[in-house]
Amino acid sequence: MNVIQERYKEDKWMGVVEVKDLDLYYGSTQALKKINLSIEKNAVTALIGPSGCGKSTFLRTLNRMNDLIEGVRIDGQLLFEGKDLYKDFDEIELRKRIGMVFQRPNPFPMSIYDNIAYGPRIHGLNDKNKLDEIVEKSLKGAALWDEVKDRLKKNALGLSGGQQQRLCIARTLAVEPEILLMDEPTSALDPISTSKVEELMDTLKEKYTVIIVTHNMQQAGRISDYTAFFLSGEVVEFSKTEDIFYKPKDKRTEDYITGRFG
Ligand SMILES: Nc1ncnc2c1ncn2[C@@H]1O[C@H](COP(=O)(O)OP(=O)(O)OP(=O)(O)O)[C@@H](O)[C@H]1O
Ligand SMILES: [Mg+2]
Repeated sequence: MNVIQERYKEDKWMGVVEVKDLDLYYGSTQALKKINLSIEKNAVTALIGPSGCGKSTFLRTLNRMNDLIEGVRIDGQLLFEGKDLYKDFDEIELRKRIGMVFQRPNPFPMSIYDNIAYGPRIHGLNDKNKLDEIVEKSLKGAALWDEVKDRLKKNALGLSGGQQQRLCIARTLAVEPEILLMDEPTSALDPISTSKVEELMDTLKEKYTVIIVTHNMQQAGRISDYTAFFLSGEVVEFSKTEDIFYKPKDKRTEDYITGRFG
């Protein structure tokens, strides 16, 4: 019995996101095959697997970023809070509620303050006091406030790589998403910045649902509650992280975890 069946048996809930028999094609090439996953609210779910197995593609289906890529076709069902993610939501609204942090920090070439205020302003907020409040709260949420509070008007491109990535996390938090999608958010960072972002995860999941792609097994083990192992566009195994790491059911999962292939 897999983790999804267990939860249904316990009659606990539906996940905040439910993925049912999801197929995705780039033109005639199938990149995702019959994906079934159930994402628990206020938990960290890690997506692992070798390069090209479909992790980023899957992550992008969750806030409809693939809609921006020509020739993409999707079959199956994605539910967000029980509603059809593709039919029942306006995509701008959806991307506010399901935010994304990318592999490479990509701050806008403007001040630290304006980077954070950008999203709220786009959504119509102009009140200076309210914006000040959001900027402070978001930077605190991303564990960056103390390092930048005296230089908010300085250009964000002057920050270190690790600081830039936390700024991007803060920028995403500023529009108060419910879900944070993170695609290898620490792969371009040094070990100290990486551990700062990792420490953040524990606090983030009190408020947010986090789905993170990582190539770093130790990282997946340290920060996630659930892990999905992807291989060639399929989810081979999806389980509690400790089970994936210590009691993998599939030989291919075991081989990957122990570094025998990948
Ligand atoms: N825009 C695209 N057009 C066509 N094919 C694509 C596109 N993006 C990805 N693919 C293909 O889909 C498959 C899955 O790619 P994806 O980027 O999701 O893998 P990944 O697991 O994130 O890999 P990595 O760990 O290297 O980031 C690959 O075969 C890739 O070449
Ligand atoms: Mg990727």
